[in-house]
Amino acid sequence: MASLFTSILLTLCLFVVPSFSSDPDPLQDYCVGDLRASPSINGFPCKSLVSASDFFFSGLGGPLNTSNPNGVAISPANVLTFPGLNTLGLSMNNVEFAPGGVNPPHSHPRASEAGVVIEGSVFVGFLTTNNTLFSKVINAGEMFVVPRGLVHFQWNAGEGKARLITAFNSQLPGAVVLPSTLFGSVPEIPNAVLTKTFRTDDATVNNLKSKFAV
Ligand code: GLV
Ligand code: MN
Repeated sequence: MASLFTSILLTLCLFVVPSFSSDPDPLQDYCVGDLRASPSINGFPCKSLVSASDFFFSGLGGPLNTSNPNGVAISPANVLTFPGLNTLGLSMNNVEFAPGGVNPPHSHPRASEAGVVIEGSVFVGFLTTNNTLFSKVINAGEMFVVPRGLVHFQWNAGEGKARLITAFNSQLPGAVVLPSTLFGSVPEIPNAVLTKTFRTDDATVNNLKSKFAV
């Protein structure tokens, strides 16, 4: 009986422990990613020749071009743009909004997010798994958090431009952007699935697909 209990406990641990982990801890001072190599089981192999420039990145400064339908632009500092982040479990974004711009509902499967408003006034919200919305308008110098995996969005609620810097506890947090995931996938999700899911018709689904096709 005791050994059955122990085996059940061990089996549960095998499933539960990985779901609590974020990026693995580093095993050496640094491991600048060699992006020419294929990613191994967790991240990129280490580059052999390293210099100071591997640990600095100047791509978060903006200004970005926000002339697009959402009025938002993002420049990421993740392991793919800044390989010095490899194995460090960290990344950041510069997020800029035109007046009225929206960063559409999305989630990061591999990271929690923290953000600070640098400029403007931003309506920030996230949704729990039981559909409770936590939201607030915040201003320059104010910060927010989004727990890992939860759907969230930001909307420029001010008159002028707005800007955020966000940070993640993963070198590559990933983003599931709901509109393009559902209506812009390749291959497409069949209309039968989307019309039933959204209780709508083919014309509406086709219209959305035409907007999010890549
Ligand atoms: C904002 O939500 C971001 O992902 O940078
Ligand atoms: Mn986000």
